[in-house]
Amino acid sequence: MRLLDQTKLPLEQVVVEIATWQGAAAAIRGMQVRGAPAIGVTAGYAVAMAAMEDSSPDREGLLANLARAAAEIVAARPTAVNLQWAVKRMLQVAESEREPEAIKARLLAEAKRIQEEDETINRKMGELGKELMPDGGGVLTHCNTGALATSAFGTALGVIRAGWESGRRFQVFNTETRPFLQGARLTSWEFQQLGIPSTLLVDSAAGMLMRRGGISCVITGADRIAANGDTANKIGTYSLAVLAKENAIPFYVAAPTSTVDLSLKTGDEIQIEERPQEEVTHFQGVATAPPGVPALNPSFDVTPSRYITAIVTEEAVCRPPYVQSLKESVKLAVGASAGVRGSG
Ligand code: MRU
Repeated sequence: MRLLDQTKLPLEQVVVEIATWQGAAAAIRGMQVRGAPAIGVTAGYAVAMAAMEDSSPDREGLLANLARAAAEIVAARPTAVNLQWAVKRMLQVAESEREPEAIKARLLAEAKRIQEEDETINRKMGELGKELMPDGGGVLTHCNTGALATSAFGTALGVIRAGWESGRRFQVFNTETRPFLQGARLTSWEFQQLGIPSTLLVDSAAGMLMRRGGISCVITGADRIAANGDTANKIGTYSLAVLAKENAIPFYVAAPTSTVDLSLKTGDEIQIEERPQEEVTHFQGVATAPPGVPALNPSFDVTPSRYITAIVTEEAVCRPPYVQSLKESVKLAVGASAGVRGSG
């Protein structure tokens, strides 16, 4: 597997070659690949690699080894449900085949399918969501939700892109996204590649800009959405949503139905990843805080659904009550995927 190393961007474009499933899990843990859909796609290939590397003589041995690898891959990062979703889907495919060689071939094909579907889904979200983009004014986004965070096109960034490509004109603002700087390093770079002008803000400038009237809407991605619409996303999303409500600005989320976790009633049940303190106390290895000072580094927060104006999935622009609209979207997506499999 070849991955564009996201820890090196934007200064260097380095492609890393991943030769083993353990290497793929390490790349997810180390954020060389990140973003909920992209880690789902990577996890799919990681399971396929685990099968291809396996030398068990029989089906049972192969399936047992796959289950062990799957558990380790899923543990790489806990918040984005796409990781678990992709691994579960791969294991179901493995279970459905009888012969080890057939299992291996099917798993590689399924990983490719997950990757291809992701691009189609993102383009659909762009088509549906572009109507939410203003003509004039400002659009604020957080973290990185573009092609880098997915297999192609992006989720929230894809909606912005589709709006721009449809001829609407607005000023894009993107936050730095402390402490890992996905916004400054990755989103700014992606907008440059796309030729869409964007302006970088420190995270804490967002409220001031909203109050001044410079923002017409906020749009972010998601790592996990509970059945009631509560949404886990990059740390700082909750603050943006509360500020948006205070300033009567619509707050949108764009995410595929694979990010919706109907098994969780509310966002209180979402596990939040805690990342190393050094990401807060250091910048590129240089200390920015006194030695020994404790730091808190939750990587995500949960935005209660009452702050969210709409959630764009590949099936619909969902509006409250999300308990119904999200369930309907998931049902449509499951039906569409069954149709594709049935005819394919
Ligand atoms: O820690 P990261 O960089 O993996 O977090 C990414 C985000 O929070 C994104 O907003 C989310 O995964 C949606 S990506 C299309």
